Amino acid sequence: MIMSKKIYVGMSADLVHPGHMNILKEAAKLGDVTVGLLTDKAIASYKRMPFMSFELRKEVIENIKGVSSVIAQETLDYRPNLKRIKPDIVVHGDDWKEGVQIKTRQQVIDTLADWGGELVEIKYTHGISSTQLNNALAEIGTTVDVRRARLRRLINAKPIVRILEAHNALSALIAENTVVERDGKNVYFDGVWSSSLTDSTARGKPDIEAIDMTSRISSVNDIFEVTSKPMIFDGDTGGKTEHFEFNVRSLERAGVSAVVIEDKTGLKKNSLFGNEVKQTQETIENFCDKINRGKAAQLSDDFMIIARIESLILEAGMKDALIRAEAYIKSGADGIMIHSRHKDPAEIVEFMEKFRAVDNSTPVVVVPTSFNSVTVEEFIKMGVNVVISANHMLRAAYPAMSKVAKSLLKNGRSLEAESDCMSIKEILEIIPGTK
Ligand code: SPV
Ligand code: MG
Repeated sequence: MIMSKKIYVGMSADLVHPGHMNILKEAAKLGDVTVGLLTDKAIASYKRMPFMSFELRKEVIENIKGVSSVIAQETLDYRPNLKRIKPDIVVHGDDWKEGVQIKTRQQVIDTLADWGGELVEIKYTHGISSTQLNNALAEIGTTVDVRRARLRRLINAKPIVRILEAHNALSALIAENTVVERDGKNVYFDGVWSSSLTDSTARGKPDIEAIDMTSRISSVNDIFEVTSKPMIFDGDTGGKTEHFEFNVRSLERAGVSAVVIEDKTGLKKNSLFGNEVKQTQETIENFCDKINRGKAAQLSDDFMIIARIESLILEAGMKDALIRAEAYIKSGADGIMIHSRHKDPAEIVEFMEKFRAVDNSTPVVVVPTSFNSVTVEEFIKMGVNVVISANHMLRAAYPAMSKVAKSLLKNGRSLEAESDCMSIKEILEIIPGTK
């Protein structure tokens, strides 16, 4: 009996298109096809997270003609699966000869050589690609459920989730679309932060819970109308527990992924004042009750309530912060945010060391406005999961606008201000459909 050859095809298979079909058809001609389906984590290590979860993608691929089995490929690196399966042939599109996968390709060739296996490359199908489909999907937008669930998936799939403050639709579009290359990889923001500080400031009001929830959610809707990324919402103290229950449902209904509530009571002031202003920390018991009742009020499984600990801000001590973290998590908090207003990150480092020694899984969020020298790589090492740049879009916009306003007055005309403004051509082009 002639044994059919073992063929291995690694793929993400999120937006399945004729290019994938062609590869699987050609692979099936060569032998028995095992698809190594990249997990969310493996995909997120080199490009955007897939739209469909691993389980959904697996269901699709398993049912394609010519596919014998589907296994998980846990890393972009094919070697662990190849060494386990020892395929005769690996099949891949020839598009990976360039770009981020060059190294991966070479590793596949070298590993296969150990047992005389070969790499067969199929000519790339032009005219259709996941990138094109991805852009088309972005234009259509997203649904409430898909957006809301996305934050949890990102936290599970990425070493760190990067969030940028947005106080209106335009700043949210910057969070949605900005991409830069860093260490040979494309990096971008994973979602937006609706900040109480910048949402209040943009409305000319102080950050003291003076903006009512209806207005806050109106900003959220403006942002959601033109973007697809998930949002973490700054819920201040969460208000009265009875009101918090309603607020949880309103945020969930809008498609927000998580609300952060801080353990303060009475008139809330911005944390970055610390004890320079009168601020009172809520009792552990009352705050646990608020978390508990908020969790009971939510309707979906994926919405998150993140408990923000103000012990370091209010100088109540490290021990208090750790006790509160444990109590809040026991009461149902899906994550914690530890805040500090020191430039030196020492107290954040100490908290993370002590917290991670007893809890390895609960997501931790930080807002490094003060301890701004710490890089995302350093936060990953500490065991932080989400890093929020909480106010930078508004802090960048205000001085820029103010400078131009002064120039217009000083010069009695706009000529001198032009170099500080985007061109009319640019402003006409940033929003598609303006023409
Ligand atoms: C906000 O952005 O409103 C925050 C973070 O709550 S902080 O301003 O640091 O308190
Ligand atoms: Mg705030």
